[in-house]
Amino acid sequence: AHQWRGVIREYFDRLPFTQDDPIVTLGEGGTPLIAAPALAKLLDVGSVHLKYEGMNPTGSFKDRGMTTAVSKAKGKGARAVIAASTGNTSAAAAAYAVAGGMQAVVLVPAGKISWGKLSQAVAHKGQILQVRGNFDDCLRLARELSENYPVFLVNSVNPDRLQGQKTAAFEVFDALGFAPDLHAMPLGNAGNISAYHLGYREDRDAGRISKLPMLYGIQAEGAAPFMKGSPVAKPETIATAIRIGNPASWDLAQEAKRDTGGAFGAVSDREILWMHRFLSQETGVFVEPSSATGAAGLYKAKLKGELPKVDSIVVTVTGHGLKDPDWALKDDRGRQIKPKKVSATAASVAEVLGLERNK
Ligand code: F0G
Repeated sequence: AHQWRGVIREYFDRLPFTQDDPIVTLGEGGTPLIAAPALAKLLDVGSVHLKYEGMNPTGSFKDRGMTTAVSKAKGKGARAVIAASTGNTSAAAAAYAVAGGMQAVVLVPAGKISWGKLSQAVAHKGQILQVRGNFDDCLRLARELSENYPVFLVNSVNPDRLQGQKTAAFEVFDALGFAPDLHAMPLGNAGNISAYHLGYREDRDAGRISKLPMLYGIQAEGAAPFMKGSPVAKPETIATAIRIGNPASWDLAQEAKRDTGGAFGAVSDREILWMHRFLSQETGVFVEPSSATGAAGLYKAKLKGELPKVDSIVVTVTGHGLKDPDWALKDDRGRQIKPKKVSATAASVAEVLGLERNK
């Protein structure tokens, strides 16, 4: 019998770990790469695959970096870890801290993270504090606290995080047998695009691939510092996961774009919600709104005639739809969707469905 053993054990020889290092894992990684013909048709390209990171243990790609960061922290004797978060990092930090026998402190922007994510951090007894400020304020505080107090920083400015997250690029190659021409994803604090760049470069240096995929990072229009070319003071978007104005991995993301011939883009909240619904209704993959941003950016580029002629595309969908399910229960005019109530007889159900009895 074989069970996926988590990214550190699966990619041990490609990660900076030794046999003596403790490994804190919840079995993260090994997520499905799902063919999405409906999206390939929409974009008019040969193939599109979705890397469904919502299938990680806490429901987002953050688990890949948290297994490495928390394991390293444990190896250094840390008793507590700290992270700033728009929600997913807080859920992952809290869960992996429990698994490693540590305490997690998480700082989140007050009132601006989804209930699903808040419930995870609370469930895993994270010390969760709502900061009167945005994510950028939270990250500033987390950095300052980790410099002056006995709490270990596990945000993606910690290079151990990117080491874990780069394994997603390895998995894409392992699943396809080649690297896609273009790989798109949502862009927030810019850790993830930097990690994919690192992973694909290692695949190239090892001779597994000959060319790096063009890396596309897509932001929400109200929180698009990479489009503006400088930080945004008051980021706003319904895609709370990427409501970030001052990305920490700025230089690494610029390098990822330049080195791969990639691009940055931005989409409106309406375009994000349209793609969120398209993915649910046409591909069967349920994601949180922020996670629809990568695909939304490609569709926007396609409509503007700016999508490069490519054959294969991978889109990372970063978090599970159950993280932030409220959006699925609204129609395209923002009205609440309420499933009809029926009496408990087959005849009344059939009548509501408009079904005619078999002859
Ligand atoms: N998608 C989701 C669902 C996220 O939670 C994040 C970031 C991103 C995309 C963007 O990734 O920051 O590496 O560019 N969430 C962080 C958090 C900020 O605190 O959970 P990035």
